[in-house]
Amino acid sequence: MGERVILGLESSCDDTAAAVIRGTPGAAVILSSVVAGQADLHAPFGGVVPEIAARAHAEKLDGCVAQALAEAGLTLDRIDAVAVTAGPGLIGGVLSGVMCAKGIAAGAGLPLIGVNHLAGHALTPRLTDGADYPYLMLLVSGGHCQFLIVSGPDDFRRLGGTIDDAPGEAFDKTARLLALPQPGGPSVEAEAALGDPGRFPFPRPLLDRPGCDLSFSGLKTALLRTRDAVMQDGRLKRSDRVDLCAGFQAAVTEVLAEKTRRAIAEYLVSEPETPLLAVAGGVAANRPIRAALERVAQENGLAFLAPPLRLCTDNAAMIAYAGLERMAAGAVDDMTLVARPRWPLDRAAAPMIGSGKKGAKA
Ligand code: KG4
Ligand code: ZN
Repeated sequence: MGERVILGLESSCDDTAAAVIRGTPGAAVILSSVVAGQADLHAPFGGVVPEIAARAHAEKLDGCVAQALAEAGLTLDRIDAVAVTAGPGLIGGVLSGVMCAKGIAAGAGLPLIGVNHLAGHALTPRLTDGADYPYLMLLVSGGHCQFLIVSGPDDFRRLGGTIDDAPGEAFDKTARLLALPQPGGPSVEAEAALGDPGRFPFPRPLLDRPGCDLSFSGLKTALLRTRDAVMQDGRLKRSDRVDLCAGFQAAVTEVLAEKTRRAIAEYLVSEPETPLLAVAGGVAANRPIRAALERVAQENGLAFLAPPLRLCTDNAAMIAYAGLERMAAGAVDDMTLVARPRWPLDRAAAPMIGSGKKGAKA
């Protein structure tokens, strides 16, 4: 397949996004990537409100598409296909995107490609660095946490994942319990840098069990109990807060590092030619976590790749790119494309239980 220009749309959670990319699988460039967040709309409710998100997507999608085309310097007649997140995610938002993409595809006579949101994240190392298959991917965000061996645009093996909360969600809850600003990740990281990680020995969930599954909901309970035990007259001293943050972050880091070690061992069984550990998701921005993962990769002879943060978090360039790979593989959809709230990447793996603040896990 020669070069293609793909318009991508993303609206599965609380970011409305449109992007244009051009290229071939493993060699694509981003011509534009527009992301319109909705954080201000959901802030008063302390979490994403699905109905508000769906309405905001429906309102913002057209403008994002127009802006993405304008920034790419292209009109619709120069686009070869429209790719859209068709799941998993909050169903109202996914529906808004799918309907918008169908309208554009029908109006402009373009092929329509439905993309799995998680495939978008998982294929990002190919968009940013032309990574060779198969590579190991750790997705760690506010809504996702799983290990995947990525062997092709539609070939994913899930080695394990969270059985309850995602790590970003745990950071956000920790921040809420300690009266720190949202999003919790950066504020907890900043406090943790000043604290003693050894003072409060938080649990390391599931480390005693074999395999790569993770759990983070128990940590939150442990944090709440410890906080209540050290609070005096309903007040938390700064020195206690920084130690709580440091202890919590150390527990998350150690669990992620150890489970990554196990995932690497499983991945290396397939004797990849250019072994690579790639990470994506907002939590990959955490410096101590990133450093720990990089160290584990190095110890095991793997290269380490963390795409730039704006491409690690939700965006439409990754959706356009996953659409490009699907198109090259001949996997094009039509007007019967449906929006799916749940859509596991690895159809052979047992379904995950639990559901995060950002919708159903997959
Ligand atoms: O990937 P993302 O932007 O959105 C989705 O969840 O899809 O990730 C956001 C999550 C939030 O929970 C946020 O608290 C967390 O990533 N996060 C961090 C850091 N920066 C963002 N967690 C830990 N340390 C950070 N520095
Ligand atoms: Zn995502």
